[in-house]
Amino acid sequence: MTTAIELLREEINKELQGSVTIVVLGASGDLAKKKTYPALFGLYQNGFLPENTRIVGYARTKMDREEYLKRITQYIKLKKDDDKDKLEAFKEITDYISGQYDQDSSYQDLNQFIEQSEEKRGIEGDKKNRVFYMALPPSVFVSVAKGLKYNVYSKEGSNRVVVEKPFGMDSETSDHLARELGALFTENEIYRIDHYLGKEMVKNIMNLRFANVLLGHAWDRTYIDNVQITFKEPFGTEGRGGYFDEFGIIRDVIQNHLLQVLTLIAMERPISTDAESIRDEKVKVLKCIEPISIEDTLLGQYVAANGKPGYLEDETLKNKESLTPTFAAVVCWINNERWEGVPFILKAGKALNEAKVEVRIQFHHVAGNLYKGSPRNELVIRIQPKEAVYMKFNNKQPGLSYQTIQTDLDLSYHERYTNLFIPDAYESLILDVLRNDHSNFVRDDELERAWKIFTPLLHKIDRHDDDVEIKPYEYGSRGPAELKDFVKKYGYHRDTQVNYQWPQQNVNPSLNKL
Ligand code: BG6
Repeated sequence: MTTAIELLREEINKELQGSVTIVVLGASGDLAKKKTYPALFGLYQNGFLPENTRIVGYARTKMDREEYLKRITQYIKLKKDDDKDKLEAFKEITDYISGQYDQDSSYQDLNQFIEQSEEKRGIEGDKKNRVFYMALPPSVFVSVAKGLKYNVYSKEGSNRVVVEKPFGMDSETSDHLARELGALFTENEIYRIDHYLGKEMVKNIMNLRFANVLLGHAWDRTYIDNVQITFKEPFGTEGRGGYFDEFGIIRDVIQNHLLQVLTLIAMERPISTDAESIRDEKVKVLKCIEPISIEDTLLGQYVAANGKPGYLEDETLKNKESLTPTFAAVVCWINNERWEGVPFILKAGKALNEAKVEVRIQFHHVAGNLYKGSPRNELVIRIQPKEAVYMKFNNKQPGLSYQTIQTDLDLSYHERYTNLFIPDAYESLILDVLRNDHSNFVRDDELERAWKIFTPLLHKIDRHDDDVEIKPYEYGSRGPAELKDFVKKYGYHRDTQVNYQWPQQNVNPSLNKL
């Protein structure tokens, strides 16, 4: 019997007729070595790259093959001994050439290199497929896209261009970029990566919602009180202050990663699982969200504590009086029949007390409850670390007691699934590029709507208007002290019972005594 994996391999080979050249632009940079190459190796190792694949790294840095191979394999982790042979074989299919980002002659050299390689590999006609992965800073996006289109574009095979945020700084700059790229490549040729869409639990949201009758029916304002989507990182901007200071936490994480999660939680059921049907629904729900107001916002910046430097002490930060937020909580209101009145609270912060990304959906209290005081149900989708879906719910205390206690239905992936393999988000997304599936990529109109929601607020923050306050919070804390009251104001009850055991924590022996 053909397995699902074999079917996938067949699908990719058929889609690309067995051959592709993957060009990694910015091959000497951080994104390429930390994410792109390890993901390409993962795909190669699992037999997902077409039989006739060549990977060509391109960047300005002049380096020999040895140096290049050393760089791109730095972050590749080998699990087994025989992976070593796979890595050697992977190296054999990759090459590097250096060139400028703004000179046609450099791209002509690149094109010549690819053509020679195609010829050597016996690739003809419409099999000359090319994927251009732009692991590049936004300042060179357009000139590189032009260079590729005019000089390296495959005239007979398919062309796919992969780009990653930042897609502009606000509506205007993003629209400008979209127009420039759109003049060169068709929407179908462009893959805008938001790597959160490649995460296992984010991909699972649609299955949870639309394959379970129970959840499907409880998914609206009648049952749900509030939704929180939280991103916490336990480290500051160390080493990235230069980049971060221009963007801030809203542009860095909320406007893209968390908003993408929100759209999957809030959209209506698409008419099918094809990419355009899904993206149509995502755009529709984004159109129902009003621009976020400053009154619905809490901003913060971390200060030194616990032996760790504050944001302003970051050596890579130029503006030592910066007012860029490193923490933000913002509330989105979705004005449609399903969600009117339900706050979607998006929270993200650097230098917090833990690493965690989760969606927490809090249901209403039971009306006319027989068991007074029992806490609300909560459905939690833990995106990372330790992927899990759990539902906090109420249950009779086992044994002679009649007490109602809070417990949970817990699907912790690492306990439930044996031989669990969760691919890195980039691996899963590059696989989608090869399959020509756009479902997990951001469409141009989706991006436009996303910016509309955040641009007025961002401009206000950038201008430091009088009503913009940045609250300090300590490195390693839960965020600004005002956060607790902020979420409470929007209806969130933190009514966890004293004895409640959070999933994956040790069982409290006192619970078993009655
Ligand atoms: C990136 C942001 O897009 O996402 C980073 O620029 C952030 O600031 C990162 O750390 C988080 O990604 P992950 O996959 O580690 O949760």
